[in-house]
Parts: sequence; structure tokens; C-alpha cells
Amino acid sequence: MIFVTGGAGFIGANFVLDWLAQSDESVLNYDKLTYAGNLNNLASLNNDARHVFVKGDINDSAHLCGLFFEYQPRAIIHFAAESHVDRSIVGPAAFVTTNVNGTFGLLEAARTYWQSLEGEDKDNFRFLHISTDEVYGTLSADDAAFSETTAYAPNSPYSATKAASDHLVRAYHHTYGLPVLTTNCSNNYGPYHFPEKLIPLMITNARAGKDLPVYGDGLQVRDWLYVKDHCSAIRRVLEAGRLGETYNVGGWNEQTNLSVVHTLCELLDELQPKAHGSYKDQIKHITDRPGHDRRYAIDARKIERELGWKPQETFSTGLRKTLEWYLANDDWTKQVQSGEYLKWVALQYEDEEQA
Ligand code: NAD
Ligand code: TYD
Repeated sequence: MIFVTGGAGFIGANFVLDWLAQSDESVLNYDKLTYAGNLNNLASLNNDARHVFVKGDINDSAHLCGLFFEYQPRAIIHFAAESHVDRSIVGPAAFVTTNVNGTFGLLEAARTYWQSLEGEDKDNFRFLHISTDEVYGTLSADDAAFSETTAYAPNSPYSATKAASDHLVRAYHHTYGLPVLTTNCSNNYGPYHFPEKLIPLMITNARAGKDLPVYGDGLQVRDWLYVKDHCSAIRRVLEAGRLGETYNVGGWNEQTNLSVVHTLCELLDELQPKAHGSYKDQIKHITDRPGHDRRYAIDARKIERELGWKPQETFSTGLRKTLEWYLANDDWTKQVQSGEYLKWVALQYEDEEQA
């Protein structure tokens, strides 16, 4: 079986669902169920014996170690993290605890287990660490895209703690020989995305008739990748990635935030038109995020050259699928927009002057 951390979150849940749709190899899904973890994402697996869920914290090495010896996974795929930049600005401590200390706890448990293995089991074991392009810092308009050799220069508490976790993973390979792989991916979007992140926030606010809050001038650039393409890249790296290597994963799809919001509004105007006007009328520029990175861009040639992976969706096809999913899954959105979510929205957006 494979052992997944953070499999009740956005990317982890998509990964688990895709994995079990394509393989009969079981998944042990280990997740703390923070505000971002949601077992409803995995409701379709409720009666599926191939999915074993265990609630736990990656800081709990003893718990993890016990599970590794009991279930004997052939690979660990590490998604669990605090993942929202804005939350890392308001409260960085949880990011250090989970992303740095938690990754350390997981690595320690993985090392103990891996060192107990022998022969093929030991040779074939993999620790795949899921990371972000944000560790590379920010680019100006004419800089080359991030490659695997770009120096780390993280700018937010989120990216700094992810960078620290990448370094720990690297060190466990060089020092102990732990068979690790790391992926650094750009911004994902798709089903089950928690509506505090740009794309699902815009979809849910637009449909609720609320403001569409664009930070600053909205000309910050991100590379966007459909989540299922990220999942296929992870499967490919697990299958054939070279030990100790890092692979950048991206969609060859740089967009300004304003352009993303405009495209979404146009799609919504088509799929669920308002009685009067366009959803674009709801766009409102608000105070910028402190330390806001201006541009991310990913050079994903290494994973294409070495492993033959490239994205299947364009932004246009992926965004349409995403919007259609949200339109068909109001119950999911209503369920996640509960107490914890409302508290965040009040803290982050309600001090903004109304236009
Ligand atoms: P998410 O916030 O949606 O989900 C994180 C999951 O981890 C949740 O289920 C949460 O309950 C769990 N978790 C948090 N702390 C934990 C702990 N201490 N112990 C066990 N479980 C814990 O995040 P996501 O967007 O799915 O991101 C998954 C991974 O991918 C993260 O490592 C993130 O850095 C990375 N990543 C995300 C993106 C993106 O665009 N979302 C892009 C590149 C890389
Ligand atoms: P986000 O989804 O938080 O991802 P990240 O900061 O990790 O790239 O934000 C994507 C971009 O959208 C980022 O430049 C910040 C911007 N943004 C807004 O303009 N308004 C918002 O309300 C949010 C949540 C993000």
C-alpha cells in the first residue's frame, strides 16, 4: 500500500480519488483534519476497503512509526501542510509546527521504518515530498522561469516553512540515504478546493452576489495547473523519478490574477447568467497582501524530458471543468463554509472599506 499524509485536503483528496480510480493498491490516508481537511471530499470511498483513514498529526512520530510497521507501505507521499499564504501572515506559528516540525517528525518515522527494511523492500521504498514553486521567491516580468537549479528565496512564512521542509527532505537523502523525491508545483485549481484560495473564493463570492476581492492592482502573475494534472505528475515521479532529485511541475500557463478573475466571470456569465450585467461588476480592488510575490513561472522541461509528463488540460478546459464542478456541488461548498471559514472571512476581508 501507499501512505498518504494530508489526503483529506484539496490536492491530497484529488490524489487519493485518482489513485484508487486507476489502481487497486490501497491507500492509508493520515490527516489531522484541520479546517482544510474534509472527509466529505472522500465520501465516494466510504465503503471502499482500499481506503483506510487514520486521524493523526505528522508531529506524532511514534504514531506514524507504529502505522508504518503495521501496514508496511512501499511509499509515503507527503501532502500534509498548512498551505494558505494569507493565514501564514496572520499566524505563522502553525506553519512552523506543521510544515517544519511535522515534516521532521514524519522523516524520522520514515527513516526508522526504512532502515528496518531489507532487500527489494528497502530498495523500492520511496518518500515523495510535495512542495511548491513559492520556495523560489518572486520574479520580475522578464526573468527566466524557475528551474530546479534556481536558488531558494522564500518570501512568506508559508514559503519559508515549505523551503525548510524541502531542505530537511534533501538532507535525509544525503545524510541517511533515505530514498526521497521532491516535486515543486505551481498554483493548482480544480474540484474540492477550499474557498479561501483565489479561484474557489471568486466562484463562491460571485454566485453569492458578493465583492470579488482583488489584491492591489491584480497584475501579479501565477502559473496555474489543473489539480488532476498535478496528480498525474506525482504518480509519474513516484514511478520513475530519480532518487534525490527535485522536479518542477507547472501548467505553462502564466496569468495575471485580474485575467483569471475576468475569465472566470465570463464563464459564469455564460453558464449561470445574472439577471442584469456581468459578474465583472462585482470586482473590487482591495489592500494588497504584505510582501506579495509579483510573479511565479515554472520551467517544467525537466519532468517532460526525463519522465515524459506534461499537462493534459489547458486553462480554458480546466477552468470550465472546475466551474462546472462547483455549480454541481453546492452542498459541498455550503458544508465547508461553516464556523471556521466564516471566522477567516471576517478576519481577512471585513475591515475593507465598501466600494
Ligand atoms: P490543503 O490546505 O487543502 O490541505 C492540507 C491537508 O493537510 C489538510 O487535509 C489538513 O487537515 C492536513 N494537515 C494539516 N496539518 C496537518 C498535520 N499537522 N498533520 C496531519 N495532517 C495535517 O493543502 P493543499 O492545497 O491540498 O496542498 C497540499 C500540499 O501541496 C501542501 O504540501 C502544499 O504546500 C503543496 N502545494 C499546494 C499547491 C496549491 O496550489 N494548493 C501548489 C503546490 C504545492
Ligand atoms: P492564493 O490562491 O492564495 O495562492 P498563492 O498566494 O499561494 O499564490 O492566491 C493566488 C493569487 O491571488 C495571489 O497572487 C493572491 C491573489 N488573491 C487575491 O487577489 N484576492 C484574494 O482574495 C485571494 C485569496 C488571493
